[in-house]
Amino acid sequence: MEIIIVENYEEMSEKGADLIAEVVKSNPCATLGLATGSTPIGVYQRLVRRNQSGEISFEKIRTVNLDEYEGLDGENPQSYRYFMNTQLFDHVNVDKRNTNVPSGVAEDMDKECERYTALLKEAPQDIQLLGLGSDGHIGFNEPGSPFEGHTHVVELEESTIRDNARLFDKIEDVPTKAITMGIADVMQAKKILLLANGKNKAEAVKAMIRGEVTESCPASILQRHKDVTVIIDKEAAALL
Ligand code: F6R
Repeated sequence: MEIIIVENYEEMSEKGADLIAEVVKSNPCATLGLATGSTPIGVYQRLVRRNQSGEISFEKIRTVNLDEYEGLDGENPQSYRYFMNTQLFDHVNVDKRNTNVPSGVAEDMDKECERYTALLKEAPQDIQLLGLGSDGHIGFNEPGSPFEGHTHVVELEESTIRDNARLFDKIEDVPTKAITMGIADVMQAKKILLLANGKNKAEAVKAMIRGEVTESCPASILQRHKDVTVIIDKEAAALL
């Protein structure tokens, strides 16, 4: 694990964007595993700028997102598909048909999980971007999720619902279920880039890096991946 401690969110975002841009430049047909949430917004802003300036092209890039809320379709502003469109896809030269987010409104969610797992197998992520939950989750793999799991539907933890409530009018509006890549789907990525900032993440960062590898802290599995870069700001690194 390479651990890079930076001053602040801006620096974290710049370095994160550098790493993704490197992958895109070295393989214009790369598959990028992407995340939503507050953490990667600065990275996406920078990737948009670099695309618009002609430094990188997404023309042949394929993307696979980690997760989606159950019950929200892509038109819903709280959905992760909507987030990805508005934060990144609408502003770069990606072919939207090459962008993939698991569906939260499939008629048969079990089939959707199987479809998404197969899609990931067929073109593994050249790089997977991850944020970190304050309880150590990656994707929506909450504590206790099996390390060998593939795409599945999960019940969200109270703490995750509370953390995500800031993006909804009221906490009751936060969906209680989501569809997420499993940990095995994340671990198949050739390269993993995890970003975390703020003191709210300090405990989880410590458990991920210094703790034992245990399903109680899903992110701790990253210790077993051969190519992981963790970029964290000073506050998130405070307990290391
Ligand atoms: C998002 C995701 C989640 C977030 C995590 C951190 O696609 O899978 O694991 O990365 O909850 O969220 P933020 O970045 O909002 O602190």
